[in-house]
Amino acid sequence: MIDNLSVAPVHEPERQYYFMDLCKSIVLNKENEYGRKLTCHINTFGCQMNAKDSEKLLGILEEIGFVESEDEKADFVLYNTCTVRENANLKVYGRLGYLKKLKEKNPNMIIALCGCMMQESDVVEKIRKSFSFVDIIFGTHNIFQLAELLYDRFTNKSKKPTVNVWEGTTEIVEDLPQIRKYPFKAGVNIMFGCDNFCTYCIVPYVRGRERSRSSRDIIREIEKLVSEGVVEVMLLGQNVNSYGNKEEDEVSFAELLKMVDDIEGLERIRFMTSHPKDLSDELIEVMANAKKVCHQFHLPLQSGSDRLLKLMNRHYTKEKYLSLVDKLREAMPDISITTDIIVGFPGETEEDFMETMDVVEKVNYDSAFTFIYSKRTGTPAAKMENQIPEDVIKDRFDRLLDKIQKGSDMKTKQLVGQTKKVLVEGVNEHDDSLVTGRLDNNSVVHLKGDESLIGKIVDVHLDEAKGFYYYGTIRTGNECEC
Ligand code: SAH
Ligand code: SF4
Ligand code: F3S
Repeated sequence: MIDNLSVAPVHEPERQYYFMDLCKSIVLNKENEYGRKLTCHINTFGCQMNAKDSEKLLGILEEIGFVESEDEKADFVLYNTCTVRENANLKVYGRLGYLKKLKEKNPNMIIALCGCMMQESDVVEKIRKSFSFVDIIFGTHNIFQLAELLYDRFTNKSKKPTVNVWEGTTEIVEDLPQIRKYPFKAGVNIMFGCDNFCTYCIVPYVRGRERSRSSRDIIREIEKLVSEGVVEVMLLGQNVNSYGNKEEDEVSFAELLKMVDDIEGLERIRFMTSHPKDLSDELIEVMANAKKVCHQFHLPLQSGSDRLLKLMNRHYTKEKYLSLVDKLREAMPDISITTDIIVGFPGETEEDFMETMDVVEKVNYDSAFTFIYSKRTGTPAAKMENQIPEDVIKDRFDRLLDKIQKGSDMKTKQLVGQTKKVLVEGVNEHDDSLVTGRLDNNSVVHLKGDESLIGKIVDVHLDEAKGFYYYGTIRTGNECEC
């Protein structure tokens, strides 16, 4: 008998296509046995990086023959996990109890866990001990191996789970299948990992060292996406501003942006996330002169206190941050600026917190993600003294939220009465006489229309602002402006 493993190609992605074919015949046999298609479901936690990985994982599963199921009552269920804050982990543990019940009803069900949480050895240990019904565990570095791991699960008679978590990698595997969530917009990885080691953050430990994709591969992927009808791309990385820094013959992020801006047929370009310490004048200039780059900038602040920024290892000061905001607004007066802020970092005093409030007041963000500091084992901040009591954090958090809300309400109202371009993304979930889309600055707009508008960019008069979204009316150009 030929041993499938010994004849498997050694190079990627050929090796994975080989295992996809092997899994395909196993799935086909099961289909014949069950008299129906096999179903799969991916539950994605965390950030855009995970959302993108899930598109690749779904691509592999559909290639193997699974059809996507709306819910977790499926033959193969995969949780792509996040561990950035403690509550991300708690959510997964909570849902696993539900999966256990589903598996009791369908013993052939395969349960797999991957993503950032699985990079932590104590988590994997806990799952093996307390959730022994989980069949496959893998991490962030080898998601491309899903078919190989599934084949192992299908053919391995032992009751032990298939566990394969890599500590790190320098490898970037291109050309695997992927299923995009939207036909008209797509995320595109430009880099992986993070080298910044902000002292509170676990991402560098679970996503590994920074590495950039080649600009040739990125442009090739975007050109293909455009030929398939994509009009908007989001360039993804933990710190897009340091794109290409480690690769000797690679272009800078600003140059890459210029190359993407020149792609014919593409209408909108977004990117995230930018670290303030690496935001260059060159990038601001390219953005301001580009034809398609949205005037939207996510610039995480984390704290307004120089003392805390130092303890956080952020490499900028409040003054430097505010000067970057000034430069962005000078070059693009209509730019929308958003941020991330952490409340309750160890040792945060009322004075430190007031520095953060001061930056919020001065910048007047369009919107902000605010997080309560969460202690992550293995990070330097977890060992810092003076962790802040919950009631103090809660009080500061509420005051911050209130300030941000007032600022962003004011900002939203400023655009009412103007006509702006909207990319229509879908039919409104609550009212099917409406469609929902996004402005260049990423704000949500609801307008009268039907699904024929999905994927189109239309001129919309912003009639009314409600919280952080708008109601608008399509302009055809024939309206009377009197
Ligand atoms: N690379 C990106 C974001 C990564 S995580 C960046 O640098 O901006 C997204 C956000 O989660 C961070 O910006 C930070 O505000 C928040 N975050 C990260 N670790 C955290 C922790 N331990 N507790 C609370 N919030 C945290
Ligand atoms: Fe975390 Fe800092 Fe890296 Fe962002 S830049 S992922 S906050 S370590
Ligand atoms: Fe979470 Fe991993 Fe993203 S920890 S925020 S899913 S990089």
